[in-house]
Amino acid sequence: MKLIVKENKAQASHVAAELIKEELNSGGKVFGLATGSSPEAVYELLADSEVDFSDAISVNLDEYVGLSADHEQSYHYFMHQHLFQYKPFQASYVPDGLADENEEIDRYESILKDHPIDLQLLGIGENGHIAFNEPGTPLDSDTHKVDLTESTIQANKRFFNHEDEVPRQAYTMGLRSIMKAKKIILLAFGERKAQAVKELLEATKADPDSPATVLVDHPDCTVIIDEAAASLLAE
Ligand code: GLP
Repeated sequence: MKLIVKENKAQASHVAAELIKEELNSGGKVFGLATGSSPEAVYELLADSEVDFSDAISVNLDEYVGLSADHEQSYHYFMHQHLFQYKPFQASYVPDGLADENEEIDRYESILKDHPIDLQLLGIGENGHIAFNEPGTPLDSDTHKVDLTESTIQANKRFFNHEDEVPRQAYTMGLRSIMKAKKIILLAFGERKAQAVKELLEATKADPDSPATVLVDHPDCTVIIDEAAASLLAE
């Protein structure tokens, strides 16, 4: 695992945006995309750049169950607002939060089979989750429906008017689905991510209690963080 520590989120996001452009320029076609505050600045840099994704495909990690694509807190809406309205892809896939569970899981797995991911962008939850793979998720999981943990509901409630509105379930790519990406970039910013970052970077093997640690077995993973997220790492 490669680690890049930058002074702040803006500088770290610049590095990530450049790596994404490099991937596109060197023939990468399928981009695995993430939502949340971590990739926001990366999308802003891409949106303001000359990059052209019109021959590329995007596949998003996850979506809340029960939210329609036009709900302001859905991940569909987030992607449209932050990236797709400025930089359209040839095709963009996001799980459908309103679809029937079995059909949606089959549909998403076949999308991933048809479009193997060249570069996957990831954030990390405060409890070490990646996408919505909460602690305890089997390492060999494919796309599935999850019950969100209380910690994730609490962390995400800031985006909703009231805690009761935060969805309790989500569709997510599984840990095995994520590990199939050829390259992975994980972003983490701020002190509240420091513990999860420490667990990830100090892990010697994958620990299902801290799902991001599955990445220790990935052959091409770059972790890009700011100094605050690095604050618990040994000197
Ligand atoms: C959510 C998403 C994850 C994201 C994580 C961290 O639960 N499902 O994909 O990485 O939260 O979010 P943020 O970047 O806003 O801290």
